[in-house]
Amino acid sequence: MRTAVIYRSKTGFARKYAEWIAQELSADLFDASDITAGKLEPYDAVVYGGGLYAVGINGVSFITKNLDRLAGKRIAVFATGSSPLKQKVIDDVTARNFTPAQMERIRFFYLRGGFDMEKLPWHLKMVMGLMGWMLRRKKELNEDEAGMLAAMDTPADFTDRKNIEELVRYLREG
Ligand SMILES: Cc1cc2nc3c(=O)[nH]c(=O)nc-3n(C[C@H](O)[C@H](O)[C@H](O)COP(=O)(O)O)c2cc1C
Repeated sequence: MRTAVIYRSKTGFARKYAEWIAQELSADLFDASDITAGKLEPYDAVVYGGGLYAVGINGVSFITKNLDRLAGKRIAVFATGSSPLKQKVIDDVTARNFTPAQMERIRFFYLRGGFDMEKLPWHLKMVMGLMGWMLRRKKELNEDEAGMLAAMDTPADFTDRKNIEELVRYLREG
């Protein structure tokens, strides 16, 4: 099966998973800025991955807007965020990014990434700086908020090559 792996990544987490997946499947790897739907014609399968930003998958409209052009191809989308893997995260992300009809065509995977404040573009650094200021003023933090605050001081990397196994199996076996 000829596979294209496409990623859009702000701080390197989606890129890392995309590289692992491409190695595992001997697939061609593309930064989303370098690819068009037309260039995907020769492929049997397409994997798209992006970081999660306020529950949105970075750049996923490349897939959802081009579903007609991708007819007949197996499609997997992965999102990488700093949240731990939980069913609620998967449910929220799918509901926010895909319609039920799109979900019939797309198989979604959540691969936990991490957080690296230093690598963020300046405008997101400002957003996160403000969020950190607000979190520090809260009396009680939930687990996700405490984790986010900690990661603002020290970069966190939860990537694990094992996380790609289910996605790779889906591409190989269907
Ligand atoms: C402004 C902002 C919003 C974020 N929103 C989420 C989110 O909704 N869920 C989550 O799990 N992680 C969230 N994150 C963390 C990123 O998704 C995480 O760092 C991801 O691994 C980045 O991937 P990338 O470097 O490939 O873009 C957010 C980070 C920033 C800076």
